[in-house]
Amino acid sequence: MLPGPCRLLRVPVAPVAALAVALVSSLSRCSLLEPEDRVASALSPYFGTKTRYEDANPGLLLDPEAPRRDPQLLEETCTPVQLVALIRHGTRYPTTKQIRKLRQLHGLLQARGSGADVTRATGGCDLGAALADWPLWYADWMDGQLVEKGRQDMRQLALRLASLFPALFCRENCGRLQLVTSSKHRCVDSGAAFLQGLWQHYHPGLPPPDVADMEFGRLRINDKLMRFFDHCEKFLTQVERNATALYHVEAFKTGPEMQNILKKVAGILQVPVNNLNADLIQVAFFTCSFDLAIKGVKSPWCDVFDIDDAKVLEYLNDLKQYWKRGYGYTINSRSSCTLFQDIFQHLDKAVEQKQRVPRLLFAFSVPPPPHIEMVHSSQPISSPVILQFGHAETLLPLLSLMGYFKDKEPLTAYNYKEQMHRKFRSGHIVPYASNLIFVLYHCKNAKTPKEEFQVQMLLNEKVLPLAHSQETVSLYEDLKNHYKEILQSCHPSEECELPKVNTSDEL
Ligand SMILES: *[C@@H]1O[C@H](CO)[C@@H](O)[C@H](O)[C@H]1NC(C)=O
Ligand SMILES: *[C@@H]1O[C@H](CO)[C@@H](O)[C@H](O)[C@H]1NC(C)=O
Repeated sequence: MLPGPCRLLRVPVAPVAALAVALVSSLSRCSLLEPEDRVASALSPYFGTKTRYEDANPGLLLDPEAPRRDPQLLEETCTPVQLVALIRHGTRYPTTKQIRKLRQLHGLLQARGSGADVTRATGGCDLGAALADWPLWYADWMDGQLVEKGRQDMRQLALRLASLFPALFCRENCGRLQLVTSSKHRCVDSGAAFLQGLWQHYHPGLPPPDVADMEFGRLRINDKLMRFFDHCEKFLTQVERNATALYHVEAFKTGPEMQNILKKVAGILQVPVNNLNADLIQVAFFTCSFDLAIKGVKSPWCDVFDIDDAKVLEYLNDLKQYWKRGYGYTINSRSSCTLFQDIFQHLDKAVEQKQRVPRLLFAFSVPPPPHIEMVHSSQPISSPVILQFGHAETLLPLLSLMGYFKDKEPLTAYNYKEQMHRKFRSGHIVPYASNLIFVLYHCKNAKTPKEEFQVQMLLNEKVLPLAHSQETVSLYEDLKNHYKEILQSCHPSEECELPKVNTSDEL
């Protein structure tokens, strides 16, 4: 029996409550704090992993639900047979660690003496006092959880993908959706919100019910796949728990670029420079991004920085991603090879299922019935849509494994200027709700009767040229061939095993 259409198991009780965002805006003292979005949007290209999806995809600012078809996407002679999507969770709250640092900084501002000196020094606009008054609306419980804006990111992404690939997201396929997620709340919640978006696609105008009440809502948690970095002993030892692995990040924090910002910010906020450090500065910058992404407001924290500061702080963020998730160490990307293999296993299976069908039909009916074409195209692929919800830390290693965004020179503490035009910019690659999608197509060549399978990759809904050819599409076989080494040699247990220590001497 075919899976049923997408319907409710239970009748929904109440629509999702609209989140009321209380805008506290008691700060009109400083001329810098006009209600315009200008400063925030001037800094937003530099928010790195805290970038809003729409800042990486500016077209969405106009209509986030309108499907935006990349003209490079295949059509006509090819039909999509499978889609495998890796999706980073949507916009989230700061982590408890970040919130504590922000509270520390806020405390510094409140403790500082206010007075004539301050006002004189800053030309009547005391940003430090404004910031001391600006409410700290982040509480420990928020700890990195998905926010309402993050749910919206996911619902809108679902709507766009469903309109972009109607044949894959058709009602008949509802029961065949495969959803996998990391165990983190923000990822589970992202998966649920994505399903609500699909619900809206099938039932426009009806408020989406609770995911537990949807027939297609079955999220499977798989941390070995989506949080492979937590399960790779070699990565944990050599990088995660290794105090010296992030040498360049630490060196950059105390280097001249950061020291300049430290002095400048100490002057603006009228606090002793010794009370500040790079981590506090970074959290102040992040707060500008959080206030914008979560609340949609321009925070006075944004006024502390200009664009040159933002570029330095972006580099600090990218340096960490580079050494911990990217090309800095081989194990960073190698630890994702199981996920890479998993993707190709799905694609292999779809190819096999698609190929097997006509042979079977021909075997059982001679001559082939006139409706062969219809029978052929309606044969089910067991998993036409696979959705995997994870983290920036899931996507970056995988993209590095595949050879994307690799600069000629490594990012170091000492080449900030040389790396101004680097490829490795996490804000472009892995903003909130970023997504890497593999689309498998079945194509009929008009000239020859040959059928073939082709693949396209999309990053954040734009076609990503293949690393081996720079083309926008590849024969599936060619792609597999290019990644042959990884596909064949990746054995997770060996990949992540620590080098053996020869203990036979002691025995
Ligand atoms: C820690 O990182 C440094 C720098 O990459 C490396 O030389 C060292 O071997 C690492 N330590 C461990 C235990 O892997
Ligand atoms: C371990 O050490 C022993 C004795 O020193 C040596 O004979 C043996 O070849 C070593 N094994 C490996 C795998 O290095």
